[in-house]
Amino acid sequence: MMEASGFKRSILITGGAGFIGSHVVRRFVKQYPHYLVVNFDALTYAGNLENLTDLEHAPNYRFVCGDIANLQEVRSAFEAWRISDVVHLAAESHVDRSIADPTAFVRTNVMGTLNLLLCARDSWNDSTAHRFFHVSTDEVFGSLGQEGYFIESSPYDPRSPYSASKAGADHLVRAFFHTYGLPIVISNCSNNYGPNQFPEKLIPLIINNLLEGRDLPVYGKGLNVRDWLWVMDHAAAIDLLFHRAAPGSSYNIGGNCEMSNIALVRLLCRLVDEKFGKTPGASEHKITFVADRPGHDHRYAIDTSKIFADFGWKPTVPLEEGLRQTIEWYVNHRDWLQNVCSGAYREYYRNHYDSKSG
Ligand code: NAD
Ligand code: TYD
Repeated sequence: MMEASGFKRSILITGGAGFIGSHVVRRFVKQYPHYLVVNFDALTYAGNLENLTDLEHAPNYRFVCGDIANLQEVRSAFEAWRISDVVHLAAESHVDRSIADPTAFVRTNVMGTLNLLLCARDSWNDSTAHRFFHVSTDEVFGSLGQEGYFIESSPYDPRSPYSASKAGADHLVRAFFHTYGLPIVISNCSNNYGPNQFPEKLIPLIINNLLEGRDLPVYGKGLNVRDWLWVMDHAAAIDLLFHRAAPGSSYNIGGNCEMSNIALVRLLCRLVDEKFGKTPGASEHKITFVADRPGHDHRYAIDTSKIFADFGWKPTVPLEEGLRQTIEWYVNHRDWLQNVCSGAYREYYRNHYDSKSG
């Protein structure tokens, strides 16, 4: 408990061993040496402490292996580290997995969020001194046709078990603002890409398959459209909103970069072919159209004018540049890819934390 004293804030970042969470943890640890950053993560298949080895010895960083769906574990962390703020990213995050097993999504995304809200409500007396920042997705707004953009006041219309569970969490977070005055902020972001993303999501999956010479699965006709954002731009937006957004507010975050899946997969083929000196398009014959995802949302697109008008935030990395950097990262981290594909990283860290707690 003593360790939390001496720091200006003690921030519980949940899901910090995952893709976006690891970039957020690194940013907060490096930018704010006067904050204690407590990374609370259950190390599911998507959580990998290899993402954060560079921070292991940082004086303002701690890791706690814990499950947000376990109220007692969350309460203990709040007490032990005198948590003053939360940045909540822990979630089951993959739509296809939510179709296969919705229960895990309700457990972590809904019950886990409720547990964090209860602990924050019960331990924070002066609402002006704290922040509960909830990281959510644009998928809560449903599916767009060819036209239009999601704005902050767009009606919720989730269609997958993943987006329904995130919508449930968003509603609970807002309810705690209105009912208990908890100083919450919500962000709803479009699709992220960059280093450290688990290769089940489209971009790292395609890069991994290109590197392994495997087929490139495209759902349906590949005409679904997503908006893509460089993950470190997302981390910068979270940092900004965490410090400056008004309690009770919500902001959309996006890349202003819409692309159909088939165009994106072709672009990845071109960039990887270029990198390895192959004829442009040489890998395209690996594209394989496969059965569509059930209930596949057609299009997501974000109107980012509120966060730009209020704080001047806008995405800084153009898609092609970000994809080149992402490809470079995966090429230089083949061991990381192999570890996450084989599950070796889980064995290592699970044994480590089991033996520590036992
Ligand atoms: P991820 O799947 O890469 O990481 C999730 C992390 O949460 C992992 O480290 C995992 O171990 C941890 N976790 C899962 N269940 C847990 C539990 N019960 N208790 C504690 N930790 C648990 O996810 P991501 O893509 O980095 O997404 C992070 C957040 O951002 C999620 O809330 C997601 O909904 C949101 N989001 C993601 C995207 C995207 O494009 N990836 C876009 C918008 C919003
Ligand atoms: P994904 O990365 O799973 O993100 P989300 O479903 O949350 O937007 O998928 C991005 C898009 O790519 C989505 O329209 C589904 C499609 N997709 C494929 O065509 N093939 C794949 O193998 C995967 C994983 C996704």
